[in-house]
Amino acid sequence: MDLSKLHAQLPHTLQGTDFPTLGTRYQGKVRDVYAKGDRLVLVATDRLSAFDRILTTLPFKGEILNRLANFWFEKTKDVVPNHVLEVPDPSVTVARACEPIRVEMVVRGYLTGSLWRDYLKGQHGVYGVPIPDGMKKDQAFPSPILTPATKAEVGEHDEPISAEGLVARGLTSRRDWERMSEAALALFQAGQAWAKSRGLLLVDTKYEFGKVGDTLYVIDEIHTPDSSRYWVAGEYAGRFGQGSDQRMLDKENLRQWLIKERGFMGEGESPTIPDDVRVDLASKYVAAYETITGAPLALEVGPVASRIERNLKAAGLL
Ligand SMILES: Nc1ncnc2c1ncn2[C@@H]1O[C@H](COP(=O)(O)OP(=O)(O)OP(=O)(O)O)[C@@H](O)[C@H]1O
Ligand SMILES: [Mg+2]
Repeated sequence: MDLSKLHAQLPHTLQGTDFPTLGTRYQGKVRDVYAKGDRLVLVATDRLSAFDRILTTLPFKGEILNRLANFWFEKTKDVVPNHVLEVPDPSVTVARACEPIRVEMVVRGYLTGSLWRDYLKGQHGVYGVPIPDGMKKDQAFPSPILTPATKAEVGEHDEPISAEGLVARGLTSRRDWERMSEAALALFQAGQAWAKSRGLLLVDTKYEFGKVGDTLYVIDEIHTPDSSRYWVAGEYAGRFGQGSDQRMLDKENLRQWLIKERGFMGEGESPTIPDDVRVDLASKYVAAYETITGAPLALEVGPVASRIERNLKAAGLL
């Protein structure tokens, strides 16, 4: 990976956008979302968040995320219908505006990350799914499990919950829960199969769903390094056998850096992220893109905001 390109892009990263004529703006942690009628324009900015906090920007992150999400949406469109209508710029997706279901559908193939931390504390019962005793860190489940969470309001942390809890709190209906579960597991299976062919394990991921009328769509993003964990398949067994950490292509790298180097887990003041760490993290996003898709990523150094504006104008959206 050519790090000089990533360094050169540091002054041009996209922190946020302001296109008043595009619609009413909502700022998520990563996306600026403009709503106009039955359409949403989702601009993937370069913002980096961890532990539900926005920490910095990374060169080319928005573009890489949007390209990857669309790679996956295209690949899985016959498995589950998705929200994509058009992609007028590498960082922008025009999507069907859906009524969002305020649930994070987390699917896990392995006992790791926050679930492993919960398991050690004996707090893994909240999801209402049986998890065998005596499992080891990073061990595969017999088949993937769903560990849902509520989708928290801005500034709040997502809360683990069971299917029963979601229905009892009116966050979704039993029928929609069943439909989302089926869709999430089918997407995960498709994702794992493709990842395998690229020498990767899709370890876990998070889906969001929304509805138009009674039709269910998968929304937001899928199978990106922000929403998913990937491990290098060929090293899994050896590392698991030795009890060492897996080689990963995802945001857990950042989480571990924050915990180890800055003692940060989402509480207190946000740490400053040095430029060389920003470039290093960006290079991980590039590597993830190229490994997952099997295609090289052509990146152009330059201001992102003006390119987006040009492309939105050309598409008749501005
Ligand atoms: N097709 C869609 N219809 C309705 N809402 C959508 C659609 N696609 C994405 N969204 C919503 O747009 C927002 C995208 O922003 P982003 O991914 O940055 O948010 P987030 O950090 O995941 O969540 P939050 O909104 O809690 O900050 C999310 O709130 C997501 O639920
Ligand atoms: Mg999101």
